[in-house]
Amino acid sequence: MTQKILVTGGTGFIGSHTTVELIKDGYEVVIVDDLSNSKIEVLDGIQEITGVKPQFYQFNICDERKLMDCLKAEQIDAIIHFAASKAVGESVSNPLLYYRNNLVSLMNLLDAMRQFGVGHMVFSSSCTVYGQPDQLPVTEDTPFQKAESPYGHTKQIGEDILRHVATAYPELNSIALRYFNPVGAHESALIGELPIGVPNNLIPYITQTAAGLRDELSIFGDDYDTPDGTAVRDYIHVVDLAKAHAVALDRLLKGANKEGYEFFNLGTGKGYSVLDVIKTFERVNKVKVNYKIVERRDGDIEKIYANTDLANNELGWKAELGLEDMLKSVWKWQKHMNGKSY
Ligand code: UFG
Repeated sequence: MTQKILVTGGTGFIGSHTTVELIKDGYEVVIVDDLSNSKIEVLDGIQEITGVKPQFYQFNICDERKLMDCLKAEQIDAIIHFAASKAVGESVSNPLLYYRNNLVSLMNLLDAMRQFGVGHMVFSSSCTVYGQPDQLPVTEDTPFQKAESPYGHTKQIGEDILRHVATAYPELNSIALRYFNPVGAHESALIGELPIGVPNNLIPYITQTAAGLRDELSIFGDDYDTPDGTAVRDYIHVVDLAKAHAVALDRLLKGANKEGYEFFNLGTGKGYSVLDVIKTFERVNKVKVNYKIVERRDGDIEKIYANTDLANNELGWKAELGLEDMLKSVWKWQKHMNGKSY
């Protein structure tokens, strides 16, 4: 029988790409999203790629009653939980929004899972849980530093909640995936990242500048202790990331997980500086990006990249796409979006 997966945040950036992979793998997908940071048109993109329009519920999962009604109506086999607020700066100015949106929602889901006998969850975590680590690359054993922002703290607490819940309720299994920097877009250019307003993140800022929608990109600091002075990150293609969710889900559904709560780094293992990214983008797409160097951005870390051995060996997953693929796909997506009204 077809297994039914609830994808919270399924119209978002990573959620939409994961939905595509799940449908390809033969799952039925039910999406819950409050559309606070995504657009309903994303469902059309998913349908165009897969031939299937997932069932869609619009609500915030902090709304316990709507969540319970949804789980009562659908026979869900597992949950992939993306729905969360994710802007680091906004979390500093509006911490309660972040603690509520990211943690009340998680607890509601776990309650609902217990009530309706759903035993499996894949959870979106982030490399932000590590802060600026003392040693690179970062393994899953690297200790967490004190969180720099409420956003980062919600991911640390979220992981703790899952760990404790797995101990208390052995029937509830979960895998947290610690994403490094997700970028890229589906090769069809029918889905991709849809920042609302001025982008906070590097890649959408680059593509919008190259497209002439922004005058100039600001590089936040060129005096870091890195080869060219700009900050280093491990960028990972969203399609590779989406596939990792399908693998983690399969592991849970098969009961192949070794612990009730597991966690994996998802990156490529390669660190690129901001200037590496800009120059590669210009070269592979033959476009120019205007930029200037400005002060460091508060809260930014100097460099981080993943050791992905655990995901490679335990999950049997490896990132296949490189920086050039990521940057070609985002330019294709930007050009596709230029003609759209949403
Ligand atoms: N950057 C610029 N100019 C910009 C935007 C970003 O120079 O206009 C730089 C940043 O300073 C940083 C790099 O580009 O060095 C990447 O910045 P992003 O904002 O794209 O990504 P971050 O690494 O800051 O944040 C990402 C996710 C967060 C997550 C964090 C974990 O967006 O959700 O990784 O480290 F928490």
